[in-house]
Amino acid sequence: MGSSKERINKMPEQATTTTDMESYWLPFTPNRAFKAAPKILVSADGMYYRTNDGREILDAVSGLWCTSAGHNHPKIVEAIQRQAATMDYAPAFQLSHPKAFELASRIIDLAPKGFSHVFYCNSGSEAVDTALKMALAYQRAIGQGTRTRFIGRERGYHGVGFGGISVGGIVANRKVFGPMLAGVDHMRHTLDLGKNAFSKGIPEHGEELADDLERIVALHDASTIACVIVEPVACSTGVLPPPKGYLQRLRKICDKHGILLIFDEVITGFGRLGTNFAAQYFDVKPDLITMAKGMTNGAVPMGGVMAREGIFSALAESAGQGIELFHGYTYSAHPLACAAGLATLDVYSQEGLFQRCAEMATYFQQKLHELKGTQHIEDIRNVGLIGGIQLVSRPDAPGARASEVFNRCFERGVLLRTTGDIIALSPPYIIDKAQIDRIMDTLRATIAAVN
Ligand SMILES: Cc1ncc(COP(=O)(O)O)c(C=O)c1O
Repeated sequence: MGSSKERINKMPEQATTTTDMESYWLPFTPNRAFKAAPKILVSADGMYYRTNDGREILDAVSGLWCTSAGHNHPKIVEAIQRQAATMDYAPAFQLSHPKAFELASRIIDLAPKGFSHVFYCNSGSEAVDTALKMALAYQRAIGQGTRTRFIGRERGYHGVGFGGISVGGIVANRKVFGPMLAGVDHMRHTLDLGKNAFSKGIPEHGEELADDLERIVALHDASTIACVIVEPVACSTGVLPPPKGYLQRLRKICDKHGILLIFDEVITGFGRLGTNFAAQYFDVKPDLITMAKGMTNGAVPMGGVMAREGIFSALAESAGQGIELFHGYTYSAHPLACAAGLATLDVYSQEGLFQRCAEMATYFQQKLHELKGTQHIEDIRNVGLIGGIQLVSRPDAPGARASEVFNRCFERGVLLRTTGDIIALSPPYIIDKAQIDRIMDTLRATIAAVN
């Protein structure tokens, strides 16, 4: 097969120009600026993308935090091709197909002990909406129907459905979309540069920030709260690993008040911290876990929600012989997604990729923190193969500095992600030390060069 670099160099030439650029409305993108200087990717392999002008780009973010096993893995490609030629689609309601069951069992095998069921959807946003609805339905099924509030957290990202933006904590994603869901409240976020700047791994200070949930309970009363949803590591708003003990404390407070705890593991699931799920990394068991992205290595859209024992059975009991949950998607358990998911899990286990992620995380942390001292950098944060570099913002131009770093790094052949003035890294688990060096060297030189 050869190295991924050899393979990408053998790729056939692809279209190098795009014709009508007007019609496509890109998501989360300033479209006019993009179209004035488009970045077009035409192929990918292993750690690399190739652009329409033939340049090779080292992928330091796994696409959008999703291609954890690297791009175009031959086993995943083959599984999708085979499934497409065997059965393109199977109805999701009242019918199913073998791979849907097999994948759910395999995911339960990876889950923390005590999880029993997997519900499929097509994205992280749908997974979040599904989990919120499950929490409401469960509370009602156990005679707690007054519990209708959702509690999220500032600086949380839970996708773009009305459920996700309501519990999410990003002002730009919320402010133009009206009142959103009623009855939602937010805990404060956990970032504390004063005490925790440049922490290597999990920050020491801030466990007590979990007590913010007690403040919210005191305000609304526990009898009105269905669930709390948090990302174990808030990623999209700039990589915020939770303070030591914080998630454990949050779990205890939820238990005390009969509140379900949802971990949104759309990014942290499937090995990103070196364990199957973040729940295992932190040794905290939530009631529901949302997942997507690494579930299929990004190759076919898929999301899911995993429920602990007792949730499905409570709904089943209250439904009698009827439907337990009036919810689902045409493309739940899509055969191509299930085939991709099964092949992805095979690749993860056969190649020991979660273990590799844990091993590379040590070197990644070391090299990432060596950037300390470069001008503009006011914090560096990391856990697993996730890194965040926070730059001081230019006065009156928040985000401009990181955006310039992003563009210059892309020109130099490295793909990053930015949010505001924070640079995020989340490379595929197959990354090697030389590639980590190249990413950090490119970042150092670029950050040092921007004003
Ligand atoms: C924690 C979390 N939840 C939900 C989502 C939304 O996923 P999607 O974009 O697949 O809808 C994301 C996407 O980045 C995420 O990071």
